[in-house]
Amino acid sequence: MDVTLSFDSPESISTEALVVVVFDNGPPDPRLDSLTGGLLTELYRSGETKGKPLETTLIHRPPGLAARRLLLVGGGKPAEFDAAQMRRAAGTALRFLKGKAVHDFVLAAEASHVPAAAEGLLAADFEPDAYKTDKQDDQRIGRVLLAARAAPDLDAALSRAVISARAQNLARRLTNEPANRLTPTELAARARQVAIDAGLEIDVLDQQRMQDLKMGALLGVAQGSAEPPALIVLRYRPAEPSSSGVHLGLVGKAVTFDTGGISIKPAEGMEKMKYDMAGGASMIAVLSALAELKPAILVTAFVPAVENMPGSRAQRPGDIVTTMSGKTVEVLNTDAEGRLILADAITYAKQQGCSHLIDAATLTGAIVVALGYTNVGVFANDQPLLDRLLASAKTAGEKMWPMPLDEEYKEQLKSIIADLPNIGTRWGGAITAAMFLKEFADPTPWVHLDIAGTAWLEEAKPYMPKGPSGVAVRTLINLAMKM
Ligand code: BES
Ligand code: MN
Ligand code: ZN
Repeated sequence: MDVTLSFDSPESISTEALVVVVFDNGPPDPRLDSLTGGLLTELYRSGETKGKPLETTLIHRPPGLAARRLLLVGGGKPAEFDAAQMRRAAGTALRFLKGKAVHDFVLAAEASHVPAAAEGLLAADFEPDAYKTDKQDDQRIGRVLLAARAAPDLDAALSRAVISARAQNLARRLTNEPANRLTPTELAARARQVAIDAGLEIDVLDQQRMQDLKMGALLGVAQGSAEPPALIVLRYRPAEPSSSGVHLGLVGKAVTFDTGGISIKPAEGMEKMKYDMAGGASMIAVLSALAELKPAILVTAFVPAVENMPGSRAQRPGDIVTTMSGKTVEVLNTDAEGRLILADAITYAKQQGCSHLIDAATLTGAIVVALGYTNVGVFANDQPLLDRLLASAKTAGEKMWPMPLDEEYKEQLKSIIADLPNIGTRWGGAITAAMFLKEFADPTPWVHLDIAGTAWLEEAKPYMPKGPSGVAVRTLINLAMKM
């Protein structure tokens, strides 16, 4: 789908549909109202259209317009209408019109909302039906025109938004792949293709190199599977070495399937554990976008990819592994595998010279208990980096919520035989998992994103299909661009 700008007045463009945002309580747009001979006044008076968030009203053959249809999308209260609302309204329009077999449309937008509108459209256009043989090709939007007033740098802002949203969809495509097709080896192959296409450096560490580096925690998780692990390293290097000396490390959990290992998970819902690589997919996608957006800083993604299986070689509860950092870990539960592979990937990222670290991981069911499916849980050992991350999330329209990480939680991480156990006690599981990672990240400024509740949409929204969300991709692109 193409998204392009048009500076023509929306009413004069001949198109299958013109989409306009209308508001709650506000008087209907007087210009559009008079152009259509009082149509808006009539709709509001009838009570059918109220302008409530994401409400849709479709009118065929609207008077006074070159468009064949007029779609009104509710924007809610005018004072509360922001870029995030525009993103959702644009996505809602797209999914609504797609269902009506419309193939092109025009969306009227304020110039300042053009990037959000484009992101909303492209994210909404994603379909998780990769393996359906009947793809309903008649329901495909070929092109959307964003009708806006000309503004400085609008073209550039639009192309940045398009790059960002396409990266989000790349993460979603990878996340949607089933585990028989997307093994650690295959994920590395996909990352290699991204690197070739985008012009990124890539290095894939195999089992032998992991052994040489003494990554005992990562290898411990991998050993129960017939599929060999891979540590995927993707690097974006700015044309001029950055004067700030900042080297951003993006670490993404990529468990291509999480059975739980010997501490096996219940059968119900286990199929969902193919998305346990969403964090890694996001980091690969972020790098693909940065190759085009060219930030001023060095950015490296580290994606430890493994399959967590209960094979005859699998690690057992009670096993002790020595991490690359030298710290020993008592593996009390083989299902707490994400933190084990991240521990070694974080240590490797530090060894590679990263000055700042962000990790994204579908790490705990406990974050879903804490924040539901709405907010990403954010943990940090550094306030300035946390503030920047949250500001970037706000701009991206991705909901993230800071969680506590004080030393008192460390009491829950005591082993009598090794330096650390890999699980805490019953309560605050998302925090003890983050606390475990902090032991390896310190003293490097670090933020941890627990995306277990947000990487997969359990229910379709008017602006997003059910399935992988690609959460954190847009936030991390924004952050890298600002650093
Ligand atoms: N991949 C899971 C976490 C998860 C849960 C992701 C639900 C997405 C949805 C992780 O590896 C895991 O199994 N965590 C355990 C930790 C426990 C054993 C301490 C959990 O949350 O139950
Ligand atoms: Mn697990
Ligand atoms: Zn997992």
